[in-house]
This record gives sequence, C-alpha cells and structure tokens, in this order.
Amino acid sequence: MNPFSDEKIVDSWSKNITPWIKAITNNEIESRNGITDKAILMEVINRKPTKILDIGCGEGWFVEALTKKGIEALGIDAIEQFINYAKNNRKGKYQLLSYEQLSEGLKGKLFDVIICNFSLIGEKSVNQVFESIPSLLNKKGTFIIQTLHPLFANEQTYVDGWRKGSWKGLSKEFMDPAPWYFRTLSSWSNLFNANNLQLSSIFEPKNETTNQVASIMLIGGHNK
Ligand SMILES: C[S@@+](CC[C@H](N)C(=O)[O-])C[C@H]1O[C@@H](n2cnc3c(N)ncnc32)[C@H](O)[C@@H]1O
Repeated sequence: MNPFSDEKIVDSWSKNITPWIKAITNNEIESRNGITDKAILMEVINRKPTKILDIGCGEGWFVEALTKKGIEALGIDAIEQFINYAKNNRKGKYQLLSYEQLSEGLKGKLFDVIICNFSLIGEKSVNQVFESIPSLLNKKGTFIIQTLHPLFANEQTYVDGWRKGSWKGLSKEFMDPAPWYFRTLSSWSNLFNANNLQLSSIFEPKNETTNQVASIMLIGGHNK
C-alpha cells in the first residue's frame, strides 16, 4: 500500500480504534477539551439547525452532543468498529460510509449544517467530500471544517503535499500514524470555489490564556 495515500489513512485509523476511543472518552487531548470541541459545538448550535451531518464522525462524541440537544444528527465514517461503537454507546444516528461513497450513500438527503471536525486528512478523498457537499447541503445551509491551522502546523515548506503523521501527545498505545495531506489556506479556499461553494468566514479558535491558535474553522455554503 502506498504509505502516502487516502487508502493508508483509513488503514492507519483502523489500527487505532481502542486508543482513540479511550483518548476521547477520557478527555486526553488537551486542545480539544478546552477549545476546539466547544468552538465547533457553538458554531453549530448557534445556527439552530434541524438536521446535521458529521463527516468522519469517529466514535461519535459530536453526534451525541447534538442529539442530546434535540438536533437530528447523522454521523458517517469508513471504519466499521467506530460506527458499531457509536451505535452501541452513543446517542444519534450512524452510517458506515466512506467519503468516496458519500453522494451515493446519502442520495436525496439534505442537511442544514455539515461538519468535518479534524476529519479532512487526505487528498482525493477530501476533493470527493467537497464534490458531494452541493447535493447534500440545504440551500441556506452551512458547511464547517475544523482542521489544523496551515500557518501554525510547524511545516518547513508552505506547499500542498503529503506529510508523515504523528501521534505526538497521545498515549503509547497508538501505532502506525496516518499520513496527512497538507493544504495551504489558498488551496482550502480554492476547494470551495472549485465546487461552486463560497467560503464566507474564517474563525481561529485560541487558547485564551496563552493566546496560541488551536485550529482553523472554514465556514461556507452555497454560492449566492
Ligand atoms: C481525527 S478522526 C476525527 C473523528 C471525529 N470527527 C472527532 O471529532 O473526534 C478522523 C476520522 O476520519 C475518518 N476518515 C478518514 N478518511 C476517511 C474516508 N476516506 N472515509 C470515511 N472516513 C474517513 C477516520 O476513520 C476517523 O474516524
């Protein structure tokens, strides 16, 4: 298998199900607890959606949080163990689907808000997510991506391309880190334009004590 490919991302994640579930349920990821989880929850809840889609939902924490607030939430992921875990342990709806199967698998369904929380990691698979959004998003709906801030990713060069992964800061139980495809800010913006979507705002969640940026949120919708 090509070590720098979309296929390898899913392969690596499928080897780290148990430590990931532990990391999330035991609140082991510091930046998530204090900052990024709250930031994406607020962004979505403030829009008062009726139906949301969580793309790359993992073990389901976000779908559960919204379901508890009375919002109809569906999570999709390519990894069967995550979907089974979520179905058995989390509130909300879940479906086993890869990004490549999104349009076909959710044909005819429409969502008020679609989110990708640290789940757009690959190259072609990310293009496929963007290609699917216009047919899944309500006319006035919002598409929200939270990801690593490209200007603060400690990268030597500022060009799109595959990078080696790391489980830095996580437990020793993690193995074989997934590679990831770095995108510059303009490249993210181009993805919106290329798919007839409009990037309408950028939000940069920060650690209020250290003033360091924790992530970037790219928020958009259909072209007006
Ligand atoms: C960092 S985890 C994020 C999980 C979740 N969004 C959260 O906030 O905890 C990335 C997720 O993306 C999923 N993923 C990556 N590539 C995928 C693909 N091509 N199709 C479906 N899911 C994918 C992985 O299985 C994993 O659950």
